[in-house]
Amino acid sequence: MQLKNKSVVITGGSDGLGFSLAKSLLAKGAIVNIIARDKNKLDLVVKQLGSNAVGFSADVSNWQEIEQVSRKIESVDVLINNAGVWIEGSLLDCEIDKIDQAIDINLKGVIYTTKAFLPKLQKETESHVLNVVSTSGLKGRDGQSVYCASKFGVSGFTESLKVDLEKTNVKVTGFYPGGMHTHLFDKAGNPKSNQDWMSTDKVADIITFMLEQDISMVMDQVVLNKRMTTTSN
Ligand SMILES: NC(=O)c1ccc[n+]([C@@H]2O[C@H](COP(=O)([O-])OP(=O)(O)OC[C@H]3O[C@@H](n4cnc5c(N)ncnc54)[C@H](OP(=O)(O)O)[C@@H]3O)[C@@H](O)[C@H]2O)c1
Repeated sequence: MQLKNKSVVITGGSDGLGFSLAKSLLAKGAIVNIIARDKNKLDLVVKQLGSNAVGFSADVSNWQEIEQVSRKIESVDVLINNAGVWIEGSLLDCEIDKIDQAIDINLKGVIYTTKAFLPKLQKETESHVLNVVSTSGLKGRDGQSVYCASKFGVSGFTESLKVDLEKTNVKVTGFYPGGMHTHLFDKAGNPKSNQDWMSTDKVADIITFMLEQDISMVMDQVVLNKRMTTTSN
């Protein structure tokens, strides 16, 4: 898909990978609609990104809010479900409200946002839903039972939606990154020394490349990890 003048919706575009995606797609001439909760931060980010970026303050886990945003955006060619939160720890140590939040945002948020925007995506001759999942949506990990449950849910949703829409104009893709250098972990109270994890700008450019491919090409279930060398740890 040629991205120039295309309307893209990015959930969680005010920080981390979503912000890098916004920059990368704006550089290709796309119109970028960003959804995130914190309005002050969103306003600052949109100002920084320039006139082709628009911000919508909403919580992806709140159906009414997301549905309202979907009414305000006239047309959508690309939906990137990227918003997410981290939860870590043994199941017995995970608080119920944090479990609810992780499932509500990481899983239900992707389902709600896709449901809200699908009618608009279906109106275009060529459109794309790209879900930013995680390698934790493919493999179980120590201390990640709830996070993995939310991300495995997104993997299942992505795979099934792809089959549902396979004969339509809407392409569905799953993208599975490993660790990236963002504030995802500190926000959940689990800071990591992640300065040398993958750069979000580089990861965003790979997603942009995936979006640029023709609708007839399948570049799906892309797993991206930092290459471990004998000099890295
Ligand atoms: N960082 C990693 O190592 C890593 C690895 C694999 C996969 N991932 C996945 O990649 C995605 C992006 O992660 P990131 O590291 O870039 O995170 P991040 O830097 O913490 O950014 C998260 C973004 O999502 C927004 N957000 C969070 N909850 C939201 C909600 N309920 N409704 C709307 N927006 C919401 C945040 O803004 P507000 O807080 O203002 O809403 C922010 O813009 C996530 O799905 C994450 O699970 C991350």
